[in-house]
Amino acid sequence: MIVITGACGLIGREFVQTCLKNNAKVVLADISEEAGNKFLAELDNPSAFFVKTDITNEESVDSLISQSVSKFGKIDAIVNNAYPRNKDYGKKVEDVSFASFNENVSMHLGGYFLCMKKFAQFFKTQGFGNVVSMGSIYGVMAPRFEIYAGTEMTMPVEYAAIKSAVIHLTKYFASYYKDTKIRFNAISPGGIFNDQPKDFVEKYNKYAPMLKKDGLNETLIFLLSDDSIGKNGENFVVDNGWSEKGTKGA
Ligand SMILES: NC(=O)c1ccc[n+]([C@@H]2O[C@H](COP(=O)([O-])OP(=O)(O)OC[C@H]3O[C@@H](n4cnc5c(N)ncnc54)[C@H](O)[C@@H]3O)[C@@H](O)[C@H]2O)c1
Repeated sequence: MIVITGACGLIGREFVQTCLKNNAKVVLADISEEAGNKFLAELDNPSAFFVKTDITNEESVDSLISQSVSKFGKIDAIVNNAYPRNKDYGKKVEDVSFASFNENVSMHLGGYFLCMKKFAQFFKTQGFGNVVSMGSIYGVMAPRFEIYAGTEMTMPVEYAAIKSAVIHLTKYFASYYKDTKIRFNAISPGGIFNDQPKDFVEKYNKYAPMLKKDGLNETLIFLLSDDSIGKNGENFVVDNGWSEKGTKGA
């Protein structure tokens, strides 16, 4: 039984469907009740269950755990995949206020920490568990700002801080819980094609092609399955080689 936060977003929808195809029971945890109920109706599958969840709220995360256990009896894994951001998110660095920076770090990194902490405590009582958290290549490398030139887009400074910390929290928790049957790993994707401006896509693709939205499914299933039983505290970069291109002579 897998809990997926941010289940109604671009990647979450893929993750939910691939887990269902692999015969898992899935709890769709998302802040949007409307999107959750709509997606659930679309899936029309008794193995899927929606719990309205705000990963930045302690009671909400507690309730996600208790509702998931009441429904399916146990939790094998949580996929930390939600993407909370405030209304000012996405500005260029000069325009990011101190308050807004802190708010986005608190929502996204704080929410991931809260889920790691609460689920780890539950997993300890249960005797086993698995946490997969979404990092990003921008948690391991500096942005290539030239690919955003001429567009309204940028790679937000908060995102770099958040994602590098998500990857490191994964290692921290893996080490803290190392003598238990709970493991923690991260997936760090490159950019996923989602109808971004043509100019941006062309510049991005000069290094390596953008991922398709189903491009992370295999890695997720590997990390959720016993095939990855020895993996703990690791970060899996999935980016068609984008982050390596132009470095180390590649
Ligand atoms: N899309 C990409 O190119 C890309 C690349 C690398 C990493 N990622 C990471 O993958 C994850 C998913 O990204 P996405 O592109 O699918 O995002 P998305 O914006 O498409 O979906 C995010 C989902 O999270 C939900 N959400 C927002 N705040 C929430 C909260 N407080 N509690 C619970 N749910 C909440 C939203 O309702 C939405 O359904 C994120 O961690 C993101 O940083 C995405």
